[in-house]
This record gives sequence, structure tokens and C-alpha cells, in this order.
Amino acid sequence: MSCRIAVFGTGYLGATHAACMAELGHEVLGVDVDTSKLAKLGSGEVPFYEPGLEEILKRNIENGRLRFTASYEEAADFADNHFIGVGTPQKRGEYAADLTCVDAVVDTLAPLLDRPSVIFGKSTVPVGTAERIGRRVRQLVPNGVEVDVAWNPEFLREGYAVRDTLHPDRLVLGVDRNRPGRAEEVAREVYARLLSEDIPFLVTDLATAELVKTAANAFLATKISFINAMAEVCEMAGADVSVLADAIGYDARIGRRFLNAGIGFGGGCLPKDIRAFMARAGEIGADEALTFLREVDNINMRRRTRMVELAREAVGGTLLGTSVAVLGAAFKPDSDDVRDSPALSIAGQIQLQGASVNVFDPKAMENSRAVFPTLNYATSAIEACANADLVLVLTEWNEFLVLDPQVLRKAVRRPSIIDGRNCLDSQVWRDAGWAFRALGRV
Ligand code: UDX
Repeated sequence: MSCRIAVFGTGYLGATHAACMAELGHEVLGVDVDTSKLAKLGSGEVPFYEPGLEEILKRNIENGRLRFTASYEEAADFADNHFIGVGTPQKRGEYAADLTCVDAVVDTLAPLLDRPSVIFGKSTVPVGTAERIGRRVRQLVPNGVEVDVAWNPEFLREGYAVRDTLHPDRLVLGVDRNRPGRAEEVAREVYARLLSEDIPFLVTDLATAELVKTAANAFLATKISFINAMAEVCEMAGADVSVLADAIGYDARIGRRFLNAGIGFGGGCLPKDIRAFMARAGEIGADEALTFLREVDNINMRRRTRMVELAREAVGGTLLGTSVAVLGAAFKPDSDDVRDSPALSIAGQIQLQGASVNVFDPKAMENSRAVFPTLNYATSAIEACANADLVLVLTEWNEFLVLDPQVLRKAVRRPSIIDGRNCLDSQVWRDAGWAFRALGRV
């Protein structure tokens, strides 16, 4: 059965959700206040890099199931189900999440609703937000109109957003246990195709659903920082963290995924989500439970400093006057996102220490330039490496993994490379005459 859906927010989360819901056969209206984004999306152009998204966006615009608007009136008139997918960034100068956008959607939408509807929150929010929004919605909706508020967290990864939305590991729906309403029934209609594929569907209370998301991200961040802490130990002990990760990863209880040591995690989610989680835990009297996340954050930030130190050592003690090639600026491959990117942060720090830094990234050049206009930007990996005293691989894009060390050697001034993602074969590079260093490996 086809549902009429409005999706508020057209960033990574909202645009992907809107396009994927249309792909599932629903009629979808994407809503945003940013008219330039809407114009792009409306003409079938994705304003960020996400493999596979443009195809389904175009297809569903063409078949008429997907449209975009800035009008909340149109959304309230058109849809019975409303998904909130706006951003919840870190507050300036604080750890807590900034809920301005979520609140603005609710405050604008609720008074316009004139028939039974369900609002599904998808944004990552501090536990307790859904209940608060439920109360707010009940205050704002016109008398006698039944509107249910449920929480349906999103677990999509950038670079795999379409696949993660259409084939998620699980669906989680938090409903208000005191007034369950129609949320579960509607969610079952919206996700009917996914449920028919036996994707696990967990119906919980609101608080648990909110916490599932933050707990999942806290666990992933902890896993990465664990292996990065092991990398620090390996460096001191003369051991190899990559082999260590392989060996412990064979234990099914541990698992090899998310055990890649390197310059650590970044992006628009993990760093701000663990901080918002700590802030919220403090507010509800559970701060002791999450003090370990402070250490997870510290280990992660230390990796960036360590990389700068290694770079300094590799060029003989001072970066002043050296030329450093930085391969990779996005926070991870297959993304053009540079939010809290370890790669870009390292490039910036190295430049501040007096090096001339030449950056190349296959997709994130424009976004990098906007954040760090003073770095030099090359048009290819080989150009970035021209006359370099040192090459740093900071994002494991496939095109960097297949670089030919012999060819690159001819471009640089000194064949010296540091692998910040443990993604290169050290032997191949050493055999080709390179001085090779990596984090957590000798
Ligand atoms: C993350 C969660 O995975 C996703 O479920 C949630 O919805 C949003 O946040 P994303 O930010 O897209 O997704 O990136 P992810 O693939 O999780 O990587 C996060 C960071 O960790 C990247 O900077 C990546 O380079 C780093 N990472 C990942 C490592 O350093 N080592 C690893 O082994 C894995």
C-alpha cells in the first residue's frame, strides 16, 4: 500500500530517506527551508556525494512519486506521515546537541495538522527529547486532532546510505507506551517491503529507541578507540596493530569490523554523538556511567597529534619550509564530507607548523576548500606529490591503495610516506625504495 509521506530536512539523512521511501512505492514530499538545496534536489541533483542516491532520486522524480517543497502548508496538506530528518549538531562551545532545527520543524508543522497523523523522529537526539516533543505537539495541534509522536532512529552510514536505508540491519520504533496510537501500524505500512524481507523490527518505548542510536554510535567509537589505544601500545612495544586486529578479530565475540587503527574517527555523527551522550548523561544523573567516553574521545584526538609528530620526525625534526602531500581530506572514503575530518585537521595542523601542504581528495575538494581555504589543492594525487618531502595517506580511497610506488617516487623530492589508515602494503613500498611509517606498526 502506498503512503503519503513528508520528510523534513534534506541533508544526508533526509534526502536519502525521502528518495528511498519513494523507491519503496510511497508518495513523498521532501521539505527544507534551504531553497538552494531544494532547487538542486528537485532537478535530480544530489547536493553531496553519495553513491547510488542520484539514480533513485532521478527515477522517483521522473515517475512523479518524489517532489520537494519549502512549504509546510503543502506538506501538512499532502501527507499523513511526517518524518523529521533535520540535523542535530554539537552546540557551539558545549558538548550538548543543538535541537533548534528539530524544534523548529515541530513548532511549524504541528499547528498545521488537521487530521490524524504520525510524526516519526529520525534525527539523533538526547534521550527524553521524543517525550518532550510529544507533549509539545499535543499543545500545538488544533483541538481534537490526534497526532502520535514516535521515534524511528536512523543508522545509515555515509557512502552506504541507500543500501543501509533499503536493507537496514534492523528497524527500531519507539512508541509512547502511555498513548501508543497508530504509530506501529503506520510504520508497518511504510516499511512493509522491508518487513517482508525479515528485517528485525523492534518496537520499544521512546527512551529506549533514542538510546539505541546513541549507544550504537558510542560502541562503534569505543571499538575504534580501543584499537587505536592498542596502536599506541604497539608503537612502544614494537608490535604490529594490524596483525593484532586480524588475530583478535577472528574471535567471533570481538569481530574484525571497525578495528582499523589509524588517525581515528570523524564525520558528522560519531564525535558529536558521543559528546551529546555524555552531556545528556550528566543531565539525567548518569554521568559516571559514561566517563569512559571522555577517554574514547581523548584517544581519538591523540591520534591526530601523533600523526603530526610522526610527520615532523619523518622530515627531520621540523616541518618549517617542507612540502607535504596530503592524500585524502574526507573523513572516510566514498564521501565528500569533511565535518570533523581527522585528515583535514591534520593537514591544517601541519600547515600551521610551517609546511606547505598540498591536498588531494577525489570528492571532497570543494568542501575542504570552504573549511581550509589556505591549504593548496592539487588536481590529482600525483600533482599533490610533486616535489614533496613527505606523503601522508589520510583517507583510504581506493585510488590511493592502487598508487604505484615506482611512479610516485619519480614525482616526489624524498620517497617518504606515512600511512595514516593502515591501508597500504608496507613491504611493497619499502621494496620500491620508500621510507614507510604507519600508526601502530613498526
Ligand atoms: C556512523 C555510524 O556508523 C552510523 O551507523 C550512524 O548512523 C552515523 O555515524 P558514518 O559517520 O557514516 O556512520 O561513518 P562510519 O563508517 O561509522 O565511520 C566513522 C569514522 O570512523 C570514519 O572517520 C572512519 O574513518 C572511522 N573508522 C571506522 C576508523 O577509524 N576505523 C574503523 O575501523 C572504522
